Amino acid sequence: MLETTLDAHGFGTEMASLVSPARPIQSIEFLRGRAKELSRIDRALFAPGRHIFVYGDRGIGKSSLAAAAAAQAQSADSSYIDVACSTDSTFRSVIANIGSQAIRLSRIYRSKKTLTAGLELRFLRATASEEITVNDLHDVIRTVGDAVEVLREVATVHSDRPVVVVDEFDRMTDERERALFSDLVKQLGDKKINVIFFFTGVAPTLDQLLGAHPSAIRQFETIELQKLNWTARWDIAVNALAKFGVEIEDNIRVRIAAVSDGYPAYVHLITEKLLWRLWDAPKVITNVDWEHYNGAIQDAILSVNAELKRPYEQAVNQRTEDFEEVLWAAADSEYLDRDLRQLYSSYGYVMRQRPGRVAMDYKQFTATLNKLKTKSCGEIIVASRFDRRGWVAYRESMLRGYARMRAEARNIKLVGEQEAPRQVMHAPGASGRSFGPSIPKGVHTGRIRMPEEGPADE
Ligand SMILES: Nc1ncnc2c1ncn2[C@@H]1O[C@H](COP(=O)(O)OP(=O)(O)O)[C@@H](O)[C@H]1O
Ligand SMILES: [Mg+2]
Repeated sequence: MLETTLDAHGFGTEMASLVSPARPIQSIEFLRGRAKELSRIDRALFAPGRHIFVYGDRGIGKSSLAAAAAAQAQSADSSYIDVACSTDSTFRSVIANIGSQAIRLSRIYRSKKTLTAGLELRFLRATASEEITVNDLHDVIRTVGDAVEVLREVATVHSDRPVVVVDEFDRMTDERERALFSDLVKQLGDKKINVIFFFTGVAPTLDQLLGAHPSAIRQFETIELQKLNWTARWDIAVNALAKFGVEIEDNIRVRIAAVSDGYPAYVHLITEKLLWRLWDAPKVITNVDWEHYNGAIQDAILSVNAELKRPYEQAVNQRTEDFEEVLWAAADSEYLDRDLRQLYSSYGYVMRQRPGRVAMDYKQFTATLNKLKTKSCGEIIVASRFDRRGWVAYRESMLRGYARMRAEARNIKLVGEQEAPRQVMHAPGASGRSFGPSIPKGVHTGRIRMPEEGPADE
């Protein structure tokens, strides 16, 4: 029970406004740990003709950051325009969508009078008078030049400073369609058309998405999103719990932060399950205990999307426990990409928490790891993106987060390397690339450092 006068329905609704595992954050008020990124975006947009590209892994918080930042950048006379891409999106479908949303959101359209008062609107007038639909608008946009014209009209009717979010741009499969946006951005700049674009996508670099058009690339501020820092992770949980008069001790919030692997969706999910556990408790709860926490982890595992967890289930299904132990070990690091030697050391660490189980030697271990790369194991482990010999990674980072929850449910404490040796690839590069947050000082992780167990470097 919780100290609240709400009924179950009221509680569920209230909670959903605080934690949202499956929906991007809309309001800056709930966006945690992204102050640096917001300020970078804010500053970048002083330059006319600048656009924003937010990229990073699935679930890291791209849509949330774009939504919150777009709402801030959009002038107060309207709401920003939001287009979600899908596999069959095209350049024209996106532009037509933007055009029709601009009309719908337009204040002058709502008061109709000004729209008829001599504005030159080649494309949008018919849309406004509802003579044509989005599909028709789509058909009359033939060239990038036409799209530029549509956006000029958008700038006229929509607001003082229109902002457009093109979310999940990477889902647009056709490379040529995507490349047209690069032309568009260039022409918007040349013609001084005042529309700001935010693109989000899962891609290592912007030119992979836009095709290399150097002058367009220069007009983007690119923001690579990293895992949420530790404070932000536990803030999500602590704040939501506090709304219902519940406190959470340091050790438990550190576990939530660690298990979530820096993926805000998991923090939301665990917090949501935790709150329901407290709701169901027979007496009034004002402090989270380990039993609540463990229950919440179990519930969270159950409700992770089947699609997402399939490769894990496939890999551990009907095989020896060796496979799962190796998967846990592979998730035991702050870094997504691991070198085999470090991974084997994590494996030793996992196995010491498995009384009665015998650890494999290095050769058996690498053989098992290699099997995890095959189809029959859902290709859950892949070669590192960094092309370094002997380095591996989880195919999908959110899957790695799932593995961490599974380990937690079996009472295997994964934390990650606190003092991972500095690798060349971990050095911040010119792009300001950094490799995520470190475990804060003073956090007791229970990690026992071990001597290196793997073979020496070849
Ligand atoms: N900075 C943040 N603070 C709190 N919650 C966040 C933050 N960023 C994302 N979330 C939450 O994490 C989940 C995934 O975020 P989302 O923006 O949809 O990720 P992406 O677009 O990268 O897949 C959402 O449930 C969202 O509510
Ligand atoms: Mg998204």
